[in-house]
Amino acid sequence: MLVTGAVLAADNKEKAAAVSEEDGKYFDADGNPTFKIENGTVDWYTFSGYRRYHSDCHVCHGPDGVGSSYAPPLIESMQSLDYGSFLSIVAEGRKNLGAGKENVMPAFGDNKNVYCYLDDIYIYLRARAVGAAPRGRPPRKADKPEAAKAYEASCMGG
Ligand code: HEC
Repeated sequence: MLVTGAVLAADNKEKAAAVSEEDGKYFDADGNPTFKIENGTVDWYTFSGYRRYHSDCHVCHGPDGVGSSYAPPLIESMQSLDYGSFLSIVAEGRKNLGAGKENVMPAFGDNKNVYCYLDDIYIYLRARAVGAAPRGRPPRKADKPEAAKAYEASCMGG
């Protein structure tokens, strides 16, 4: 299957604005997961995504999504990657051959430490990409919602 990142109009703070909430998880006007950051306090998923990103992605994509010589800066990629494209690239991986380089984005579709937290990572990177979350560990976070605990238990256990 060929996965291409659909190039959409760039994401921005207005498009990413949270308009609804379900059990501590926020959604934009299109129904895609998003962040909620108020006075420096991040929602649980943004915080969780920060942690997951820095355990499984930052070795290649750099701290805080800023990129490295090996892999692209996701804070830029995310401005034009929609939710569905993000999910499929991370699940299936990608290989870019050309210009004498072979840089591989591994497939994480069978890694529970990643796929059980794909929304979290998406939400965190989205917040970084639109300039809503600064670099570094978020200083304050919302409590972990019951729904997040239940989802984690069934995903990690199942
Ligand atoms: C072993 C290194 C490595 C790791 C670990 C890694 N990536 Fe990647 N990733 C890459 C490379 C290299 C590319 C560029 C591949 C290409 O150009 O086809 C890439 C591309 C991507 C893209 C597409 C970017 C674009 O501009 O189109 C996304 C999204 C992405 N990675 C997300 C993630 C996430 C989320 C994680 C952690 C769960 C992760 N990656 C972990 C190496 C890595």
